Amino acid sequence: MQNNFKRILVTSALPYANGHIHLGHLAGCYIPSDIYTRYQRLQHRDVIHICGSDEHGVAITISADKEKTTPKAIVDKYHEANKESFRRFGILFDNYSRTSLPIHHETAKEFFLDLLEKGFLLPKEQEQFYDGEANMFLPDRYVEGICPNCNYDKARGDQCDNCGKYYDQLDLKEPKSLITGKTPVVKKTKHWYFTLGSFQKKLEEYVAGHSKDWKDNVLQQTRSWLKEGLQDRAVTRDLSWGIPVPIDGAEGKVMYVWFDAVLGYISSTKEWALLQGKPDKWKEFWCDSSTRYIAFLGKDNIVFHTIVFPSELMAKTGYILPDNVPANEFLNLEGGKFSKSRNNAIYVKDILERYPADIVRYTLATNLPETKDSDFYWKDFQAKNNNELADIYGNFINRTVTFVAKNFENKVPVRGVLTERDNDILAYVRSAPQRIGDMIEQFKFRDATMEMMNVARAANKYFNDSEPWKTFKTSPEQCGTTLNICLNIVRSLAVLFSPVVPFSSEKIWKLLNQSGTIGNEEWMKAGETQLHERHQLGQAEILFTKIEDNTIEQELEKLGSSSPVKTEEPAASIYAPLKAQITYDDFAKIDFRTAKIVEAEAVPKSKKLLKLQIDLGFEKRQIVAGIAEKITPEQLIGKTIIVVANLSPAKLMGVESNGMLLATAADGENFALLTSSKDVETGIGIK
Ligand code: 2FM
Ligand code: ZN
Repeated sequence: MQNNFKRILVTSALPYANGHIHLGHLAGCYIPSDIYTRYQRLQHRDVIHICGSDEHGVAITISADKEKTTPKAIVDKYHEANKESFRRFGILFDNYSRTSLPIHHETAKEFFLDLLEKGFLLPKEQEQFYDGEANMFLPDRYVEGICPNCNYDKARGDQCDNCGKYYDQLDLKEPKSLITGKTPVVKKTKHWYFTLGSFQKKLEEYVAGHSKDWKDNVLQQTRSWLKEGLQDRAVTRDLSWGIPVPIDGAEGKVMYVWFDAVLGYISSTKEWALLQGKPDKWKEFWCDSSTRYIAFLGKDNIVFHTIVFPSELMAKTGYILPDNVPANEFLNLEGGKFSKSRNNAIYVKDILERYPADIVRYTLATNLPETKDSDFYWKDFQAKNNNELADIYGNFINRTVTFVAKNFENKVPVRGVLTERDNDILAYVRSAPQRIGDMIEQFKFRDATMEMMNVARAANKYFNDSEPWKTFKTSPEQCGTTLNICLNIVRSLAVLFSPVVPFSSEKIWKLLNQSGTIGNEEWMKAGETQLHERHQLGQAEILFTKIEDNTIEQELEKLGSSSPVKTEEPAASIYAPLKAQITYDDFAKIDFRTAKIVEAEAVPKSKKLLKLQIDLGFEKRQIVAGIAEKITPEQLIGKTIIVVANLSPAKLMGVESNGMLLATAADGENFALLTSSKDVETGIGIK
């Protein structure tokens, strides 16, 4: 950590208040920002975490049209809902504001007028699509047509979801208004353009100054924009919802949502300062170069924070710029895109009905899309909970406290002479805060979380190797020493894990009968032994319970039934991101075989699963495959397929499966079974 900073400003991207927060949002932005802020608080740094709802823009008006209500009703509903989801999930914001508040409108107007006066906003006449029947100009998302670059037929007005290309609205082929379905006409309108080009050089210097500390994805996207050369960009729109353009003659026009949204960080900080009773305090965070500013966001927001927002701040003058913009890539869901428009998402409000926040927080933290897209798999969720949280962390705590409750009157035992093993584990735990802290400072939250679990793993091993159940009889003093150390490690773990699983840490705090809150602890002292001998402990409780197979099967079933329009995915999305590299040895462990399908039938009550009897030549087997929506049992019988024959048995919807069939991970025309190019014996190995 750069100690020359006096305070830290953390912002998290303001989510649009037109839909519920889902796991993709959390993994992209809010888990990292929350871990970071909680950690900085434990370092006793002066830090605030600022966020709020992004309540303007076409995203909101389109949702209002769809739900047949007003934009105001939409933002009121989702602002409250999302604020509550964040609260229940333990994402701590110092302020969660709204861009529809007067304080924000005033802030945005002040910026707009200042930039206008300085000549950074220039009016220009421009041709744009106009829907004569609806009597309005069509902002980008209100037009759809054929992409001029790749011919995708559902391309949006300004950008193609399929190939990613940005273009001028008028280049769209066969445009259609999404309001009336009619072909729009081209009409002139006036807009104000932000002269981004005048900041090209300063931005290049700014980005060059961060070539070592910004993440590759952030540098790449930013550099590619800079390389193309920055163009003037229209920052007004013909729309009734938004911040009115504060100029005579600009009636019916509002600011472009991205112009005002980024300023929402400033207005939210102003609101926070007012609520603190110190109205000017926001300036310390925004206008003082001894503040370090970290802006967290997902990858689709990068250039707005590394180019557009810094340009606005430079133009206004007197403001600091983001020191880092640790953007994450996307989280996919079971191999497909998280998409609220396609109803293929897991919402925070829903998952919290069924699982404690900490399991979700931990699972996501160990699987953050920090360098490339990652996947949320329910099976992985179960495995991380059962094999790590419950079997390692929870087990260590549980066995320690139950042993002490039973054998030491629930009091911290006296510590005797230390063995080499005792000294080793104490040294390892003592060094953990520095090690984990360094990772967090470098925005490596996955590694940091895994390192937290490594400490628990080492502690578990220490407990095993020390065999207190034996030494209790043979050497009570040594046994007391072991348990004294274990209890101190439980305390250390509670603090070290608290940025990731804060609710569990609070429970451990009570269980150890510690006064005050964990939030007041000192991170760098977390590895030290701090429990007094003979300190009376609190009541033990189970921290993590295992998740059963059938619970996960139900989740998978639900997901299948809630993603009805998969076939509408644009073509490019058939390419799943490449998985992490494996070695030849990894590959050689998989035993692929040819097999013949002799019977096939549906699994009762399941939309997705088929039960197959296969002949491997040397034996017959039953396997279950999730392909019922893609192929019928009749089409399968008699086919020679390829299977993974050495997969551990599993039960799907209660039906045993002994192997896995290979098929393309796609639907419709792209679905195919892997078969042999000619008839060969069944059971033949494949390499
Ligand atoms: O992508 C989004 O959800 C945007 N509302 C993020 C805005 S971030 C900042 F500008 F407020
Ligand atoms: Zn395209």
